[in-house]
Amino acid sequence: MIVAQISDTHIAHREPDAARRASDLARTIADIETLDPPADVVIHTGDVVHGGHPEDYACAASLLRQARAPVYLAPGNRDDRENLRDAFRQWGCPASGPRFIDYAIDDFPVRLIAVDTLSSSSNKGDFCAERAARLIDLIDTEAAKPVAVFMHHPPFVVTVGPDPLNFVTPQALTRLQQTLQHSGRVTAVFCGHVHRSTSGRIGRITAMVAPCTATTLRKGDFPARLCARPVYHVHRFDPNGEFGTEARIVSEPSTVGATQSG
Ligand SMILES: [Fe+2]
Repeated sequence: MIVAQISDTHIAHREPDAARRASDLARTIADIETLDPPADVVIHTGDVVHGGHPEDYACAASLLRQARAPVYLAPGNRDDRENLRDAFRQWGCPASGPRFIDYAIDDFPVRLIAVDTLSSSSNKGDFCAERAARLIDLIDTEAAKPVAVFMHHPPFVVTVGPDPLNFVTPQALTRLQQTLQHSGRVTAVFCGHVHRSTSGRIGRITAMVAPCTATTLRKGDFPARLCARPVYHVHRFDPNGEFGTEARIVSEPSTVGATQSG
């Protein structure tokens, strides 16, 4: 099983680098299409768009539709739950349901579970008791397969960059960590938000953070010749029960705008 993970595309028609962000997503999907063997599934770990606008979701959806593999999304702090659902109502995430966008995909050797970490008052993540109960239900619905969870905010203390805690309170982070470990069957967590590649652990669970697909917003040190090339993650599941993760750099663009935007 091969999971291609993209994150933080921040599609935004009102930003000066709007074309570049759309191009970064288009090029990344085109590169995913060249994987051999192909990706079984594409996951997007949130901040699909930058300001929650329907026209930006329409743009993102038109680009993500170019993937042959099914695409699934978890919401990020820049996303608008309602507009995201509207844009991806036939695919990508459940078209309806309770206010949280959390769900399980059972079509693969590893179950994929999307977790909604949005806060109503902060760009940081939140994880309330209601979401903890929902995640336990999602995990416990099936007891045979391993589970990979994908979400926007990293559920561990991030030791690179300016902000180690990416949740509104230490208690929310602890609740999420305890919930992830409750069954012993979560084998990996895939996330985004901090715009740079990093990793951490929640007990025995490995958590990987994919860099920002939008190259103008990506953090971390890259040689100048790579600054305009999107990077995404390819997670290959070993039948022995572990994911191996590779950072994949997309091919050279023919022409690239050089706009920088924060
Ligand atoms: Fe982001």
